[in-house]
Amino acid sequence: MTIEEYILNHIDEEPAYLAAINRNTWVRQMNPRMCSGHLQGRVLSMIARMIQPQQILEVGTFTGYSALCFAEALPENGCVDTIEMDDELEDFIRDNFRNSPYENKINLYIGDALAIIPSLEKMYDLVFLDAEKSQYTRYYDAVFPKVKNGGYILADNTIWDGKVTQNVLSNDLKTREIIRFNDLIKADSRVEKVILPLRDGLTIIRKK
Ligand SMILES: C[S@@+](CC[C@H](N)C(=O)[O-])C[C@H]1O[C@@H](n2cnc3c(N)ncnc32)[C@H](O)[C@@H]1O
Repeated sequence: MTIEEYILNHIDEEPAYLAAINRNTWVRQMNPRMCSGHLQGRVLSMIARMIQPQQILEVGTFTGYSALCFAEALPENGCVDTIEMDDELEDFIRDNFRNSPYENKINLYIGDALAIIPSLEKMYDLVFLDAEKSQYTRYYDAVFPKVKNGGYILADNTIWDGKVTQNVLSNDLKTREIIRFNDLIKADSRVEKVILPLRDGLTIIRKK
């Protein structure tokens, strides 16, 4: 048994509607690895339960798995706003939300997050950055004014398969941007930060 299998056997079960999304994502979508999956999903949900957010913003919905993990942790009147640029995913995402208990807690925005974020007239307790890796610092700058003081930003894939510690090819724009993002967060005195070596790296950032 691998460590991952052992962990999965000793944490909360994956709800049936999330297991179905994961399965259907692997059958029907390109790049299914982007879906958070059982372990990361339970971690995101647990983090949200610890933070007790009312308002959550997600940048990068994909098939809706992580949005639903956040939604399950929300209080009665809480809400997840989630943004996905690929309009071909819209029907799949909406079906996934409809087949869960949380459809009424999630607002799906289809479009480029960099265009949509400035139009959101809300302050958020928790933001999850999980869209295009070569745009991470732009997402961070866009969401920062929308995060409440004491609120959190989670950034996924910040270890990027270990590439952040290796020699980077000049044309590897994603790795270069993630390194730039990690350096920027480290130097940003407005926030506290820690990186969890979960899956592909999850940075937890707290706005002071
Ligand atoms: C890693 S996947 C998200 C995975 C999802 N959060 C989960 O954990 O299951 C990244 C998604 O971001 C979307 N994306 C990329 N650039 C975007 C942008 N500028 N605005 C909104 N979505 C974007 C991609 O189409 C893709 O579906």
